[in-house]
Amino acid sequence: MKVLLVGATGNLGLRLVAALLTHGHSVIAFVRSSNKLESLLPASVYSQITVIQGDAKDPASIKRAILDANCDAVVNTAGLAALPPWGKSDLPAIFRAVLDGVRQAGVDRKKPLRTWFLAGLGVLHYPGSESMLSNHIPIYLEHRQNLRLLRSLPPDTVDWSMLCPGTMTPESSDINVPAKSQHGKLLGNATTPPSWHDSWMKYIPLIGKSLVCAINASRYTTTLEQNADFIASDLETYESRWSGTTVGIIDGSK
Ligand SMILES: NC(=O)c1ccc[n+]([C@@H]2O[C@H](COP(=O)([O-])OP(=O)(O)OC[C@H]3O[C@@H](n4cnc5c(N)ncnc54)[C@H](OP(=O)(O)O)[C@@H]3O)[C@@H](O)[C@H]2O)c1
Repeated sequence: MKVLLVGATGNLGLRLVAALLTHGHSVIAFVRSSNKLESLLPASVYSQITVIQGDAKDPASIKRAILDANCDAVVNTAGLAALPPWGKSDLPAIFRAVLDGVRQAGVDRKKPLRTWFLAGLGVLHYPGSESMLSNHIPIYLEHRQNLRLLRSLPPDTVDWSMLCPGTMTPESSDINVPAKSQHGKLLGNATTPPSWHDSWMKYIPLIGKSLVCAINASRYTTTLEQNADFIASDLETYESRWSGTTVGIIDGSK
C-alpha cells in the first residue's frame, strides 16, 4: 500500500519507516522538518521514501498529502500523550486534525481510508468489564478523548484501528530495512489486553483492580520495532480483523 506516515521523526515513526519498507509498502512521510528526518535515517533508507513537510494540526495539509500522493492508508504517530491526569499536550489537537484530514480525504475518494492511530494500554477494558484500565491507574488520559472521537464518527467514514501498547522500548538505535522482519511477533486482542493475569486481589475494596493493573503492566512492555512490524504487517491486506477497534498487544514469546 501507499502509506502516509504522520510523525515519522518520532521513536515509533522511525521504526515504522523501516517496517513499512520491509513489508513492501511505499512510504510518504509527513514531518515538520525534512532535514530532521534526513539526519535521523541512513541515506539508503531516506532515499526510498517521499517526504512532505507540514503541520499535523492542519487538517487541510493532511488531506492534501493523502490525495496528492494517492495514499491508501495512514498511520498517525504524531504527538505524545501527557502522563499525569492533569497534563496537557498537543496530542488531542493533532489527533483531531489528522482524523479530520483523513475523513475529508475519504469523502473525496469515495472510500474510507484504512488508518492506524496510537493510544496506550489505559484505553483497553479491564477483562470481563466495561471499565477502562485508566479508571484504575489514571495516567495518559488524553488517549480517552481521542478514542471518543473515533467512536463518534458516522459509520464508513474512516476505517480505523487504535493500537494500545504499554511501554515501548527500542531494540536498537540503528534504523535499517531487512528483507524480512527479524522481530518477535506480537499477539493482538480487540478491546482487552491479551493474556491478562487476573487475581483474587481485584476483590480488595477500592484498590484491588488498581493493584492487579500495576502487577500486569510490565508484562505489556514491547519494543518499538515489534509495534511497527505489527502495523506494517496488518496493512498488507485491505481487510483487517482490527477494523473499528482498540487493539491490545503482548510479546508472544513472553
Ligand atoms: N513511547 C512509548 O513508550 C509509548 C507507549 C504507549 C503509547 N505511546 C503513544 O505512541 C505515540 C508515539 O509515541 P513516540 O514515543 O513515537 O512519540 P515521540 O517520539 O514523541 O514522537 C512524536 C512525533 O510527533 C511529531 N509531532 C509533534 N507535533 C507535530 C505536529 N504538529 N506536526 C507533525 N508532527 C508532529 C514529532 O515530530 P518532531 O520531530 O517534529 O518533534 C515526533 O515525530 C504517542 O501517541 C504516544 O503517546 C507511546
